[in-house]
Order: sequence, then C-alpha cells, then structure tokens
Amino acid sequence: MIRGKIFYKGKFIEAGIEVEDGKIKRIGKLVKGRELDGIILPAGIDVHVHFRDFRESHKETIESGSISALYGGICLVVDQPNTNPPIENFEIYEERVKKAEKESYVDYALNLALTKRNLEKINETISKISEKYFLPAVGEVFIQHNDENFQIDYGELGKVKHKLTIHAEDPKFVQKGNPNFLYRKREAEIVAIKKCLEIGNFHFCHISTKDAAEMISKSKSTFEFSPHHLLLSEEDYSRIGYLINVNPPLRKKYEVEWLLKNFCLADVLASDHAPHLVEEKKEGVSGFPGVEVMYPIFVYLASKGLISFKELVEKIAINPAKIFGFQDYGEIEEKKYANFVVFDLKKVETIRASKLHSLCGWTPYEGFKAVFPEEVYIRGEEVKKSETKLGKSLRR
Ligand code: DOR
Ligand code: ZN
Repeated sequence: MIRGKIFYKGKFIEAGIEVEDGKIKRIGKLVKGRELDGIILPAGIDVHVHFRDFRESHKETIESGSISALYGGICLVVDQPNTNPPIENFEIYEERVKKAEKESYVDYALNLALTKRNLEKINETISKISEKYFLPAVGEVFIQHNDENFQIDYGELGKVKHKLTIHAEDPKFVQKGNPNFLYRKREAEIVAIKKCLEIGNFHFCHISTKDAAEMISKSKSTFEFSPHHLLLSEEDYSRIGYLINVNPPLRKKYEVEWLLKNFCLADVLASDHAPHLVEEKKEGVSGFPGVEVMYPIFVYLASKGLISFKELVEKIAINPAKIFGFQDYGEIEEKKYANFVVFDLKKVETIRASKLHSLCGWTPYEGFKAVFPEEVYIRGEEVKKSETKLGKSLRR
C-alpha cells in the first residue's frame, strides 16, 4: 500500500507496508506500494490532554481538540477528568465517551477523577466502568488543586485499586501569586514525589525538576515530561508575559536544559494540553495548549540531532501503549493497527497560532521551528488530508 523509510524495531528501513482490515499485515522490502517522501513513524499517543467541552466548550471541545491532535500526528488521546462537571461517576463517564465516539477525529480514552465526593465508592465505580470501557487510569489525581474537591490526601492513594496518574505538588509549598513560578516552589514537586514513592508505584504527570526525575527513574514508578518543561523557562516571561502560568510552573533555564539533556530518563512525552482563552490567561489561570505541536517540535529536534528518533518514538508511542495497556497501538509492527505518520524533514515550518486548530487561539511556541505531518494514517486510512473522523472510543 505505501513504501518508504519506515521506523521499524528501533531503526529506519526501506520497506513497504501492507494493510488489511486496519491492521498491518506485512512489512517487507518486497512489499509494493505508493512511494512516500520523508520518514514514516508510529502515530503518537498523547496520554495527557484536557479537551474541556461540557461547560467549558469556549476553551476547547472534543472536536476541536481532537482535530488538533490529528494535525499533530497523534492517533490516540487520553482525556483528563477535571472537566466541568468532573468525570466522577459512571453516568458522566459514559456520556463523555459516547460524545467522543461521535465527535473525535482520533481514538479516545478517558481517565476517571478521584474527588472528595467519589472517594468512598471509587473501586465500585472503577469496576462498573471497566465492564464496558477501557479505563486507562484514575487521574490526573491532584495532591494540590485550586478546587478543594480535587485535593486528595496522600493516605487515600493506597486505597485505589487501579493505575493512578498523579499531579504531584505538595500544598505546603504552593502559594498563590503571579507569575506563578515565583510562588509554586520546586520543593512542592520534590516533597510530593518523595511521599508518594513511600506509598506505592504510580504514573507521575509532567515532572519539572531534576530531583523528581532522578528519584522516579530509580523506582518502579513511571513519569512524563511535558514539552514546555523541556523547552521553556522562567526567562520566557519577558517574551510571553501573562501567558506564562502553568502547573507545575516553568523552571530556571539551567534546570530546563538539564531536563532536555536527560530526556532519556522519562518514560513518556505527553503534552498536558490545557487550553484557556487569552482573556482567561490575563486573570492568571494556568495551562498551555500543546497537543498539535508536541510531535512536530520533537521531530524537528530529532532531525537536528538534539534527541534521537529512537528515544522520541519510545516516549511518544511505544511506552504509552505499554504503560497503559493500549493493545495493538504504539509500533509499526505486523498485527498492530496501521497507525503511522509521514514527516518530510525538508519541510521545516514556523509555528503560528493562527494556523493551529485549538479554540484557545494562542501558543507559547509562537515562532518555534517544527516539522508537521504530511500524512496521518489511522487503521490504514489517510485521515489528515481527508479530515476523516475515524476516532473510536476505547471499549472492553
Ligand atoms: O497548568 C495546568 N493546567 N496544569 C494542570 O495540571 C491542569 C491544567 C488545566 O486543567 O488547566
Ligand atoms: Zn494536566
């Protein structure tokens, strides 16, 4: 069906891919097909997006978020449950997954929230959801959150009988103020990680400090880096001003550079796509959009040799599939879904918010270089040029 320079079992080979019923039937040097310019990588899996919708559909909807994902080379997203209203019972979980089934351009999975209100019944709710749907995790669980209902005590974490993804910032080291990097201390993350590691094994979201990255990589827990903690620092305040707030906050330049140099430590690269309107950012809310530019920026960085393609593919596709158990996703391999992306490394573009698809209308990466996908295939069908809605919600 197609031929080109395919990333296969850790390296590039010249070969063709034959697809049958949405899955890869054969990969081989003799397989014929349309010859593609550029490189063919596994489509990305972004395990951390906030697609808002419901009462916050002015910021983003499942439809706008998922078309952003598609244009960013992502074939599967995991949506976070801090929606308004939050995903804290079976009924609302089902309502959202069914909505995504109709509206999403890419495959869709949803985490369940752990709140003060659903804590007592959490394991019951997990079982009920899991009978019908594929529940990746209970998360993003907040040790610290502006909304008290989302703040969970450490002692409760051990009660949950499912994978937990944790936003680890200890409330004792978090004060309110703008810009937030002056008030939310790095100790907040380090202390929270230390305490959590004493309790058990978790998946930690968006790690932003050297100490936390080192501690987790020595444990059985896993963690994500988000692009902004590897590419942006406190110094960007002079460039983006009131847009700067994100939780955990941006760090000092030397720490950011250390994190990017030690990209290998992370298990996963996930965007923490958290869109808010510019007017809302002026009021100090935290969060950056990122699902559409993450893969393109990192493909550009890999093309320049700053990271390797092998590491990138591991963190953006292979490991997310392994850690969360997304069967048949994550690799260009026989019997797996034919989900892949074509990048032409000669086509370097400059990121402009006006060309992106998020409803929030801005990006902290204005002017950055990136290589956007030429073509995106989901289950063997080209879905970017055709803007086909092939997204499925993950079921049992
Ligand atoms: O900056 C953030 N914004 N960090 C989070 O963890 C949540 C997110 C949001 O939902 O806006
Ligand atoms: Zn988040």
